[in-house]
Amino acid sequence: MRIYKVKDYNEMSRKAANIISAQVILKPDTVLGLATGSSPIGIYKQLAAWYQKGDLDFSEVRSVNLDEYQGLSPENNQSYAYFMRHNFFDAINIKKENTYIPNGLAEDTAAECTRYNAIIRNLGGIDLQLLGLGGNGHIGFNEPGDCFEKETHLVKLSDNTITANSRFFDSAEDVPKYAISTGIKNIMQAKSILLIVSGPAKAKALYKALCGPITPAVPASILQLHNNVTVVADEEALELVPDSIIFY
Ligand code: GLP
Repeated sequence: MRIYKVKDYNEMSRKAANIISAQVILKPDTVLGLATGSSPIGIYKQLAAWYQKGDLDFSEVRSVNLDEYQGLSPENNQSYAYFMRHNFFDAINIKKENTYIPNGLAEDTAAECTRYNAIIRNLGGIDLQLLGLGGNGHIGFNEPGDCFEKETHLVKLSDNTITANSRFFDSAEDVPKYAISTGIKNIMQAKSILLIVSGPAKAKALYKALCGPITPAVPASILQLHNNVTVVADEEALELVPDSIIFY
C-alpha cells in the first residue's frame, strides 16, 4: 500500500487526477471504477480541465460506478447518474454508452444486481477503482456489518450515512433509505485501487481502515489485503496515522 500525504483537498485532487490520467494515457480503453460524493469532485474537475486542454482522451474509456440510490431516476438531480453527468461525463468525451451505473429504478433489484455484476465481468474487470471513504468506514455503500457483502447488492443505508448524505438533500427524510452497491469482492477484484480521503471528519475512519483490524465493522479495512492500493489523503485525514507508514 502506498500512502501519500498531501496538504489539502486541492492537492489531493491534483495528485489523484494525475494517477488516473496516467492510467488513461497508458491504457486508453481502461475500465475505471468511479465514485461519487464530495471527495472526487475536484478530481473530476481537474481531469475535465486536462481534457479541455487536449491532454487527455476518454473516447475509449469505460466506466462503472460504485453505487446508486434506490428509487431515484437518472434525471433526479440527487441521483448518482445525474452527479456523474453533471460533474464529469458532460465535460469530457467519454461515450455515454460506455458508462455504467446501477439502475435505481429497477423493479427487480436482484436481477439488476446480477446484470451489474455481469457488466463488470464482461468489461474484463476494473483496472483502477476510485474510492472515497464514509465517515463510518464504508466504501461504495458497503456499510459496517457482520460480514463483507461480496457482489452487487441492495443495501439498507445506516442512520450515520443518511445523516452524512442529508447535506445534499433538502432534509434527512428525503435521503433514500436503500441503495444498490457493488460489493467488497467487486472492489477487491479491481487491479488497482485509489482511495482518496480529505478532512478531519474522516481521520478516525481512515486510521481504522489503514491501521486497525480487518473487519466488516470497518469495510475499508479489507483494502489492507489488496496488493495494489494507493491512498492519497490530506494532513487532516491522516492525523492519527503514524508517519512511519506514510510515503510522501
Ligand atoms: C457516499 C458514497 C461513497 C462516498 C462516501 C463519502 O455515501 N456512496 O462512495 O465515498 O459517501 O462521501 P464524501 O466524499 O462526500 O465524504
